[in-house]
Amino acid sequence: MGSPSAPRANPRFAPTKNNFENELVFKVIMPLLEITNLSHNFGGLCALTKFSLEVKAGELVGLIGPNGAGKTTIFNLITGVFKVHEGVIKFQGQDITHWRSHRISSRGIARTFQNIRLFKELSVLDNVRLGAYARHAYSLLDAVGRSRNFRREEERQRQRAEALLARFNLSRYAGAPARNLPYGEQRRVEMARALISEPRLLLLDEPAAGMNQSETQELIRLILEIKEEFSLTIILIEHQMRVVQNLCQWVKVLDFGETIASGPPREIQQHPKVLAAYLGQDGALVEEEMENSASRSVIVGQ
Ligand SMILES: Nc1ncnc2c1ncn2[C@@H]1O[C@H](COP(=O)(O)OP(=O)(O)OP(=O)(O)O)[C@@H](O)[C@H]1O
Ligand SMILES: [Mg+2]
Repeated sequence: MGSPSAPRANPRFAPTKNNFENELVFKVIMPLLEITNLSHNFGGLCALTKFSLEVKAGELVGLIGPNGAGKTTIFNLITGVFKVHEGVIKFQGQDITHWRSHRISSRGIARTFQNIRLFKELSVLDNVRLGAYARHAYSLLDAVGRSRNFRREEERQRQRAEALLARFNLSRYAGAPARNLPYGEQRRVEMARALISEPRLLLLDEPAAGMNQSETQELIRLILEIKEEFSLTIILIEHQMRVVQNLCQWVKVLDFGETIASGPPREIQQHPKVLAAYLGQDGALVEEEMENSASRSVIVGQ
């Protein structure tokens, strides 16, 4: 700092004791995401009823529940795919309830989809680059005129996309159309695409669906690694209890849009309402039943 050539700090942004404390308070106390009494109907169907959730920075929270319980609806509401009619969503203390998808994404929320949504004919590299759309730092005029700013930003995003492909062990597919990739690899491309927008919160919708046991193990390891490397907070929708137990500190269980239980994964497995939701009666085979439920999702292609 003492060197004469060192850039002078802008006093407006210089760290002060107060904003350092604010940041600390934010990290330790304030939830990164705060959802209050979120409800959603499709015609007469209550897909979600008064759902509330607090997620702190750095947490990995699970959402589970039988098919049609309302899990994906929550992601669609958080990301602005569905309009919120009832309830409040706050992110980093800011009310984002009625924001459009693009603005939500540029604020730092990214997701993957239950049904893989890649542009099948585009190359893997281009699919990942498209995820950067939310963060582009140039204007429409820049893009039309292909200004230096535009080209610099494009180049930066291409390099980031290549680095992400390398991180996800996908470099060899960079030029190939996405449709040529095996299923597990397509899921990893989706994760890379989500990360290029530099999110703070990552929403993963059944990332292990359709994977075999060794692919699932590999995925668990990958999720834990990227969580640390990219300082992510993660909400994970998952049917497989093995995945949930290995990853999540806290789990919420939904059934017919209602929250029926929440707690650490091992505890909620014994919860009578959870047993009843999965088995229709009290029983002990929650793990197998949850996994069967997941394979039903895959078969019907939801
Ligand atoms: N776009 C839509 N239009 C009409 N009904 C919908 C729509 N999306 C979801 N639903 C209904 O809302 C309910 C909740 O669906 P959602 O997709 O959130 O369930 P889910 O918990 O993700 O289930 P799954 O485990 O099968 O993915 C279901 O009854 C579903 O049929
Ligand atoms: Mg779903």
